[in-house]
Amino acid sequence: MRVATKANAAPSLTPRQIFERLDRYVIGQERAKRAVAIAAYNHVKRCAVRRRDRRSILKKSNILLIGPTGSGKTHLARNLARILEVPFTVVDATEYTEAGYYGKDIEVMVAELLFKTDHSVEEAERGVIFVDEIDKIARRTQGGRTGAGGRDIGGEGVQQALLKLLEGREIFVPLNITQHWNKHDFVQVDTSDILFICAGTFTDLHAGAASRSVGFGAKEGRAGGRPKISQRDLLEYGMLAELLGRLPVVVGLTPLRAQELRTILTEPPDSLVREYRERLDVDGIELSFSDGALREIVDCAVAKGVGARGLRAIMEEVVADILFEAPERRGEKIAIDRRYVVRRLANLDAASLGDA
Ligand SMILES: Nc1ncnc2c1ncn2[C@@H]1O[C@H](COP(=O)(O)OP(=O)(O)OP(=O)(O)O)[C@@H](O)[C@H]1O
Ligand SMILES: [Mg+2]
Repeated sequence: MRVATKANAAPSLTPRQIFERLDRYVIGQERAKRAVAIAAYNHVKRCAVRRRDRRSILKKSNILLIGPTGSGKTHLARNLARILEVPFTVVDATEYTEAGYYGKDIEVMVAELLFKTDHSVEEAERGVIFVDEIDKIARRTQGGRTGAGGRDIGGEGVQQALLKLLEGREIFVPLNITQHWNKHDFVQVDTSDILFICAGTFTDLHAGAASRSVGFGAKEGRAGGRPKISQRDLLEYGMLAELLGRLPVVVGLTPLRAQELRTILTEPPDSLVREYRERLDVDGIELSFSDGALREIVDCAVAKGVGARGLRAIMEEVVADILFEAPERRGEKIAIDRRYVVRRLANLDAASLGDA
């Protein structure tokens, strides 16, 4: 008979397997993908070990992801959610306020997780919560944006409230998120085993860090290299030391390069090119893009400086007329070339000027 050892508790997906699954959908960002894969693996392992032995010394390694807009922070989280075999939820830090003020109490983050587990507390207690837009709850008093002596209910207050979740306390979670005013239905949840992955752009930090030539734009170190943004930068930004102390793994995402944007357009199973081809296929149209057309789309996204986030809007503009006429053009093969894209995107610029 086999003796039960700790090895039996090893989770089903290895860090490499998690990485490889992420890799199909999330382009570039090797360091972030590796860090998240390790954290996810450790998390599952730690939960399994602690189920037998609560005194296990394995620690949680909550993560802080920092990267410019459209670099894939939320995208990474959503894909991790799909891959992981643990309950997972994405919450937006800006929707929360200090207890007692209008907005969601911090406990609702855990309620969202409970919702995903059909209210199984035991399941939720080993889940992962992705807290997006964490930089938007930076302390605001320094910038003088709150009145003198005013309470920073959406900033520092939320960070304070978040501490107790990260610390792993027993908290009371409202069971019914939509009827939050119904204060009767609470359930007690132990957050010690819930993994937190926080993410934010920390916009001004990139410029600062880059000027010291260690920024995101600088050559990436080898995987596992030091984070390029220091704790001090984050403190100055308005993050509480206590909060940072509970986010021991800090990983920077880099702005996506043109080649990566190009790959994002065509390679992932849910890429934009595949999506639009499929959409027109339904109308009986065979759509294709020339190399030059794709390059032009990428160049436009680069020029806008919004990373992959801009690709969809650009693509939508490029194919707008074709989508409009599609039902009348059934059976055609439509090849989009560079000239066509240039013409369409000239419209885009004109249109956005009109908005201004
Ligand atoms: N690295 C990537 N690989 C593949 N697709 C990506 C990547 N980064 C972004 N995308 C695409 O761009 C869209 C926007 O990216 P995402 O929402 O992840 O940006 P973000 O880093 O969270 O930016 P923000 O700080 O503005 O929220 C995603 O829905 C995804 O389709
Ligand atoms: Mg995002």
